[in-house]
Amino acid sequence: MKALENVPPVLRIVWQSGPYVVALGLLFRVVASLVPVSTAYVSKLIIDVITDIVQHRTTFAASATHLWWLAIIEFALAVSGSVAGRLIDYYDSVLADRYTRHVSIAVMRHASQLDLQAYEDPVFYDRLERARVQATDRLGMIQSIGRLFQQVLTTLSLSAAILFFSPWLLLLLIACLIPAFLGESHFAFLNYAKNFRQTPIKRQLDYLRQLGGSREAAKELKLFGLSNFLTGRFTDLSNQIFDENLELFRRRLWAVSLLSLVSTGGYYGSYVWVIYQTAIGAFTIGTLSFLTQSIINASNNISQIFSTLSSIADQALFLTDLLAFFEMRPTVTSRPDAIPAPRPMVRGFEFQNVSFRYPGTERLVLNRLNFHLEPGERIALIGQNGQGKTTIVKLITRLYDPTGGRVLLDGVDLREYDIEDLCREIGVIFQDFMRYEMTARENIAVGRIEFLSDLSRIRSAAEKSLADGVIERLPRGYDQMLGRRFESGVDLSGGEWQKLALARAYLREAQVLILDEPTAALDARAEYQVFERFNELTVGKMALFISHRFSTVRMAERIIVLEDGAIAEEGSHDTLMAHGGRYAEMFELQASSYR
Ligand SMILES: Nc1ncnc2c1ncn2[C@@H]1O[C@H](COP(=O)(O)OP(=O)(O)O)[C@@H](O)[C@H]1O
Ligand SMILES: [Mg+2]
Repeated sequence: MKALENVPPVLRIVWQSGPYVVALGLLFRVVASLVPVSTAYVSKLIIDVITDIVQHRTTFAASATHLWWLAIIEFALAVSGSVAGRLIDYYDSVLADRYTRHVSIAVMRHASQLDLQAYEDPVFYDRLERARVQATDRLGMIQSIGRLFQQVLTTLSLSAAILFFSPWLLLLLIACLIPAFLGESHFAFLNYAKNFRQTPIKRQLDYLRQLGGSREAAKELKLFGLSNFLTGRFTDLSNQIFDENLELFRRRLWAVSLLSLVSTGGYYGSYVWVIYQTAIGAFTIGTLSFLTQSIINASNNISQIFSTLSSIADQALFLTDLLAFFEMRPTVTSRPDAIPAPRPMVRGFEFQNVSFRYPGTERLVLNRLNFHLEPGERIALIGQNGQGKTTIVKLITRLYDPTGGRVLLDGVDLREYDIEDLCREIGVIFQDFMRYEMTARENIAVGRIEFLSDLSRIRSAAEKSLADGVIERLPRGYDQMLGRRFESGVDLSGGEWQKLALARAYLREAQVLILDEPTAALDARAEYQVFERFNELTVGKMALFISHRFSTVRMAERIIVLEDGAIAEEGSHDTLMAHGGRYAEMFELQASSYR
């Protein structure tokens, strides 16, 4: 049963999500599992006393106290059984909530530690999505595991009691159970194998269901009239599952009914034997009652153990993705002996023969690239789409490590630095920056979340990026909820979002600022203003900006033209124009379109 391999790691996760809750839940399960055998035993004692009274071996007066005490104990047992049951339910619910929270947080934490590369891999993404779904709603499994524990304990305590009265009886019972055991485990296995086989179909079903109700797909589904197509496919696939299930359920019904006939025969055989022993005087009537109760109870518990086990196996199957996700390890990590980022940086960043290809692809995006970004220098990086500009930024920020060559900071390989500390010194806004569906203030504060409540810092960052003008126009200013997802949210235009995102870079107060085409949605004049500001504000800092607009690019002290993964030309605007190469050509092309 491969699915059961998932159970120990899941138990560990359950334990971690609330050790006290688990411990208390187990404690009350121990109590509850001892109640049946104790109740049966106390009622045996009561019956024995009463038999003695009825047969005049003793008088009621002589045994009254004893009898009442037994009744009180029986009552106390019933009460503790029911109280324990309530408490078990209570702790199960608490544990389920804690488990959901614990796993959701663990999934978020773990996801944030994985390589960026992982996110660009569809298989990973799929797994992450499923892990997210599996993180929640596992109350059923937690309950089943607890129930299994209780059923096993109950059965053991009852068996011990039976063993005490008659080892033979226990042996007989076990022998009768074997066929049922084999049958149940055989079908549990078939069921597991079936569920496993059906997983791809179930994924398809999930996908179809989600597609049918998704906002992204709604437009096309309507226009192309795909509704019938989707529901038709859904019906076909679910019929497939349905038929397979029905087939197995039928076979199981037959086989299990026949086998349970054997075990039922066994129980009644033992019952007859106990009656016989009582009739010849070897057992008291109390013992008769005790053993009958115990036998029925034990056999019920044993058959429940089978169904609990197969339900655990079923549920554990669904956790495969979650566990596989937790097994994934990042490759871009800080070394144990990592050093802090230099403050201040004195020699800057140096690319030495850097080559890079994205994992799983053939093409070298960067091919023996060499360049130096010195402190106090502002470089503009240009090049056509797909030439590797963004890739350079990803290497500087260690979202990826180079395939060949080295990136140095102050003469030391970037891989020697502590990643988090390094990132603290770099402010980057990517072309596909995030639009957080949060307030304006939070949208800026994400640049450096410690400053969330420092409104004066956030204001000053907004002034620098020219976002203050945007925020002034919002009805609730800095506390305005942005985006359309939440009530009272106000959506911004692309250019307005960009100004807000830029404020994050300024808030960061980092030594290096990188803007990777974050201003494409601004019109040429607004972009010019933004970059003029950027130029004033980054005096003395290292800055790298990527833009397609030559009106902006020409402001940079040094311009690097990237082509085929290497530097084609570099120099100031005037030098490059005088040189009359690629830069001059591209500049003329763009200038002519404005004339
Ligand atoms: N995650 C990725 N996996 C595979 N190829 C990628 C990935 N990201 C970018 N590329 C490819 O690498 C090349 C350079 O991309 P990029 O650095 O984003 O270019 P630029 O920013 O200059 O437009 C492009 O050809 C792009 O298709
Ligand atoms: Mg890019």
